[in-house]
Amino acid sequence: MEFDFNTYVKKLVKKDEIDKYSKELDTIKEKFYHGLNELCWYDMNKYVDNKELKKMLNLASELRRISDVILIIGIGGSSMGAQALIQAMSSYFKKSKPEIIFVGTDLSSEYLIDLQHYLKEKDVSINVISKSGDTMEVLTVFELFQSWMYKKYSEEEVRRRIIVTTSSYDGKLAYYATKHEYHKFHIPNIISGRYSILTPATLLPMALAGLDIVSFLKGAKEGRMYLNQAGLYAMLRRIFFDQGKVIEGFAIYEPKLSKFVEWSKQVFAESEGKEHKGILPIKLIYTRDLHSLGQFIQEGNPIVFETVISIDRTRTFKVDKYQETLSNINHTVEKSVCQAHLDGGCPTLIIKIGGLDEHSFGELAMFFMMSAAMSSYLFHVNPFDQPGVTKYKEIVGQSLRNL
Ligand code: PA5
Repeated sequence: MEFDFNTYVKKLVKKDEIDKYSKELDTIKEKFYHGLNELCWYDMNKYVDNKELKKMLNLASELRRISDVILIIGIGGSSMGAQALIQAMSSYFKKSKPEIIFVGTDLSSEYLIDLQHYLKEKDVSINVISKSGDTMEVLTVFELFQSWMYKKYSEEEVRRRIIVTTSSYDGKLAYYATKHEYHKFHIPNIISGRYSILTPATLLPMALAGLDIVSFLKGAKEGRMYLNQAGLYAMLRRIFFDQGKVIEGFAIYEPKLSKFVEWSKQVFAESEGKEHKGILPIKLIYTRDLHSLGQFIQEGNPIVFETVISIDRTRTFKVDKYQETLSNINHTVEKSVCQAHLDGGCPTLIIKIGGLDEHSFGELAMFFMMSAAMSSYLFHVNPFDQPGVTKYKEIVGQSLRNL
């Protein structure tokens, strides 16, 4: 990975602003070396052992063999990582075999009716993921498809085709897994959804999609070497916030990263958006959004700073008019936009990965999780709880019980 936290920031950050947070940041970084429970994803070897990996790979290859479609049912942090990685490493147009379809991320009956119709003649398997095992959207959709599977297949065949990924022993999903003897994988209780990208919550869907989880884990492990850069990134975000830049635009020039940005938004927003603090993350797909939001960012209310996730190498071809590859033209646009936005008072931080591959995304995922945790600590909030989400879930539960 490469970082440029200088070229398009320079004049906008003063030495005394850095001094204000440097000491605190050093103390925060120490937490990563002390094996804190909440930071256990930093030492994921503890949680994903070879036996578990082998089990995942074997089951994934069996389900890939017998399925036309695999439904991944989950929501929020427990689903976003898989969506992000599968989108980033799949073809735009070639349908994968088996096809991976995400469901449970909303309550659209329109979607579910169309989906059931689409699945009628297809062989289907399911991986349902919920750390709590009780999330309403996930359970509602899973129960629907569970009954649908029992109508379509024998009990034995359903058992072969459903995998439950959960953490709790008393959640409804754990109950179903025990009752029907479904295959089961475990999300460690201590890891919140958005930090579960290195657990079976994400690894299993990746394997089901045919991605290389070993290389992803290796990348994540090596990504730990960027702890200092992750800290610097967290500190610069904090400084921009003090300057009134309360919105971070995650900008991408490759739309395959669209869902990866959704995952990044999830990690930052749910980690630091508490106690009336935090930076609101938004997604900018460039060059498309240069023709809309770009105007605001350059000349509107100066409340935005940008973070570009750049890709060093993509497949490309030469454009005759410029005698240059399209990817180099894209990079030239990227730099020019950074300059234009800096001229308008909007600083840009650049994070560059090698390519659209498992190892690069492992590094990037680790980098963002480390920085989101450090950024939250700089806001003096707990990165690993989500009291607002818990509260909304309770209110919804109460309303549904009153129906
Ligand atoms: O990051 C989080 O903790 C949340 O976004 C959860 O992943 C989300 O609410 C889903 O929860 P669960 O995995 O318990 O179904």
